Amino acid sequence: MSLPDQTGKFAIVTGANAGIGKVTALELARAGAQVWLACRSKERTQPVLDEIERATGRAPGFLTLDLTSLASVRAAAAAYLALKQPLHLLVNNAGLAGQRGLTQDGFELTFGVNHLGHFLFTHLLLDTIKESAPARIVNVASASHYQAKKGIPWDRLRQRTRGITAMDEYAVSKLANVLFTRELARRLYGTGVTTYALHPGVIASEIWRKVPWPIRPVMRSFMKSTEEGAQTSLYCATAPELAEHSGRYYDDRKEKRPSRVALDDALAAELWDRSLEMCGLTGRAAA
Ligand SMILES: NC(=O)c1ccc[n+]([C@@H]2O[C@H](COP(=O)([O-])OP(=O)(O)OC[C@H]3O[C@@H](n4cnc5c(N)ncnc54)[C@H](OP(=O)(O)O)[C@@H]3O)[C@@H](O)[C@H]2O)c1
Repeated sequence: MSLPDQTGKFAIVTGANAGIGKVTALELARAGAQVWLACRSKERTQPVLDEIERATGRAPGFLTLDLTSLASVRAAAAAYLALKQPLHLLVNNAGLAGQRGLTQDGFELTFGVNHLGHFLFTHLLLDTIKESAPARIVNVASASHYQAKKGIPWDRLRQRTRGITAMDEYAVSKLANVLFTRELARRLYGTGVTTYALHPGVIASEIWRKVPWPIRPVMRSFMKSTEEGAQTSLYCATAPELAEHSGRYYDDRKEKRPSRVALDDALAAELWDRSLEMCGLTGRAAA
């Protein structure tokens, strides 16, 4: 897939040291964007930074971002804002699955990393994104969100992961990605900033490394490559025909109806308010 020219655009991709995020960052840079990789380990990201520089002749930027820590999220956003440069594209790609625990701030691990860290990161960068409009925010969700049929179990978000496989928690976190995209679109209406949620496909990345036997080998049998996995992210990030679309869900480079729960506007608003509170932002002006 050849992308529209991205020269002059500034982009951040989270979780870009591996998997779908790595391909997303590389292809955006190849298309001319000035790309920043927001990852938790500089050491693990260095080979990707080198590869992008070799491919484009331009050095990409690096931000230390550990989504298990809201303090780290704040520091990463502050580091980018200190550069006083625009931000035309934020790809919230990082994620984990099949892992159990708590974040450093005491939230269920999957929800904390996949939703809450990205919620805060986006929130802190939002004024700059709005000033840079036209701009886009792309949230890498998952078809797993269809499994979260009962919505969000609010009483479990401040507890250690309960499920043995953590797949219920993963589905909830990905539902949160779709709801966040929708609520953000509503709040950003008329600003020139548009939002997108997507399922990348079932992709042979590292994300499934902690998913237990026998689920993992079954999944592996029908997985696609990370190059294929980045296509819908890149489509949402750059397709001119999506410039006026916002808050929608995509799969295989096509718009798709998300789950019934993901279309619940009251739930999206509640998630927004509770996320503000969980991030200690209650009372601050929201988007
Ligand atoms: N693969 C699939 O089949 C599939 C399907 C549906 C949706 N997705 C979504 O696609 C996105 C990308 O996943 P992937 O398949 O490319 O997985 P991956 O290869 O495991 O990459 C995940 C990325 O997220 C980063 N990450 C994990 N925890 C983090 C944290 N606490 N702070 C900062 N970064 C963190 C990882 O960094 P480290 O290397 O430091 O761990 C890595 O860069 C995820 O949001 C995932 O939910 C994937």
